[in-house]
Amino acid sequence: MSDIIISPSILSADFANLERDIKRVEEAGADWLHIDVMDGHFVPNITIGVPVTASIKKVAGIPLDVHLMIENPAKYIEPFANAGADIITFHYEAVDDGKVKSVIEQIKSFGLNAGLSIKPATSPDKIIPFLQYLDMVLVMTVEPGFGGQTFMADCAEKLPVIRAKAPETLILQVDGGINDKTGRVCTELGANSLVAGNYIYKSADIKSAIMSLRQA
Ligand code: DX5
Ligand code: ZN
Repeated sequence: MSDIIISPSILSADFANLERDIKRVEEAGADWLHIDVMDGHFVPNITIGVPVTASIKKVAGIPLDVHLMIENPAKYIEPFANAGADIITFHYEAVDDGKVKSVIEQIKSFGLNAGLSIKPATSPDKIIPFLQYLDMVLVMTVEPGFGGQTFMADCAEKLPVIRAKAPETLILQVDGGINDKTGRVCTELGANSLVAGNYIYKSADIKSAIMSLRQA
């Protein structure tokens, strides 16, 4: 058994059948549930918010991996903590550099794991100073905003740069265009958590799709 954490993105689920689609990935062996929160400002799309996250918490048996693609994330940490998030990841680009550490501390003050994400254009050097405070770094391998986009191989080159400077326990997650092949590219470069939306939810056999990512 590998120790790659598989986090299916419910953005690719059928929103009219969320509970069914959550159970599907749980039964197929998913480790976490990835919840993509978008505000129409930080990214050009609007998706899931606090009330839906709280409803998901009632039926989910695995940790909620909440990916905030929003401006002013500090304002929404407490509501998402109360809604049942287990991991909260925010974007480096959404916060002044001088405030990043305090947002991480805010997440941790609720007893949650804290993640920091970078978009394709952001250099990994920007987040190196924060690695010691973080539980997870999320390297975006597409421009955030939509599921079903094509993996950007250049972004995966950030992984070894971060891995080389990170504490051993840091979870290094990738998100965007991940399938069995692109997942392998990322795990070979140091990722140990894979987010996948379309690859898992559009597959005829969800269990095999998750298994193939685990072996990536
Ligand atoms: C993109 C989201 C991703 C997305 C992944 O902005 O953060 O989590 O849902 O979907 P796929 O795996 O289909 O690229
Ligand atoms: Zn995401």
